[in-house]
Formats: sequence, C-alpha cells, structure tokens
Amino acid sequence: MLSKKLNKNLNEHMNLEFYSAYFYLSMSSWFSKEELAGFATWFRVQAQEELFHAMKTFDYINGAGGHALTTAIKAPQTDFDSIQQVFELTLEHERFVTSTVNKLLTEVRKESDHATDIFLQWFVSEQVEEEASVSAILKKVRMVGDDGRGILMLDNELGSRIFTPPATA
Ligand code: FEO
Repeated sequence: MLSKKLNKNLNEHMNLEFYSAYFYLSMSSWFSKEELAGFATWFRVQAQEELFHAMKTFDYINGAGGHALTTAIKAPQTDFDSIQQVFELTLEHERFVTSTVNKLLTEVRKESDHATDIFLQWFVSEQVEEEASVSAILKKVRMVGDDGRGILMLDNELGSRIFTPPATA
C-alpha cells in the first residue's frame, strides 16, 4: 500500500503529466493557427502520449491502495514567438519532467517501496526517449531556420506521426 507521502508525490506527478498534455495541446493549437498542420499533428499526438502517462499514474495510484486526486491543472502558455521557441520550451519542459521523475524515484527508494520503484522505472526510460526525440527535432528546426521550403518539408515529416500506446505499458 502506498504511503501518504508517496501518494501525494505520485499525485503531483500525475498532475504534471496532465499539465504536459494541456501544454502540448496548446502548442498544437498554435501550429494550427499558423497553418502548419504537420507540426500541429505532432503536438496533438504528443498530448495523447502525455494523457497516457497521466492515466497510467492514475491507475497505479488507485491500484496500489491510494487515492488519485484530480486537482486543478495550471493554464499553459498559449502563444509563442516561433517554431524554434516551441521546441526549446518543449525540451526544457521534458528535462523538468525527467528531473521530477528522478527526485520521485529517490523518495520511493528511501521508503523501499519496490512496487512503485518498478512502476517509475518505466518513466525513467520513457524520459530518455522523450528528450532524445524532441532534441532531434529541435536540431532540425535550428538547421532549417526561416527557410520556407525546409519548414514545409519538416511539417510534412512531422505530420506522419500517429499515436500508438506504448507496448511496455
Ligand atoms: Fe510524460 Fe513527456 O513526459
């Protein structure tokens, strides 16, 4: 059974995942407004992944004898200066999520809660992938700069992304 402290920490993690979904949905909306449908699709799928992460945590908390609380989710930024800024903010956000997952795992290990330890290891690996994929796209975005043809090519590439629930879940 989850301790009160870990229940609270996991709830904060779940809330951060819901916030992540909302943040990426906001970015998707901004790209739609900018007529960049491929980028909009990529962020919409990213939001779906974050919802998956949030629900995975929701189910874990309740399944482990805790109580997942659907507390308020803060409002994300809704307007952006450039494509590059969006991906810089995304990478910064993913690094923040990684650091919170790591801190949470440290707390879990202090309590020797092995089940929650195993649960969180999935997120540790997932964050490596998350950071790597965003970092690779940011590199391309910087390479392309203001070149319209390059932006359209990237838009086309990112638009092929589809949501597939992670197999390891
Ligand atoms: Fe669920 Fe992108 O962190």
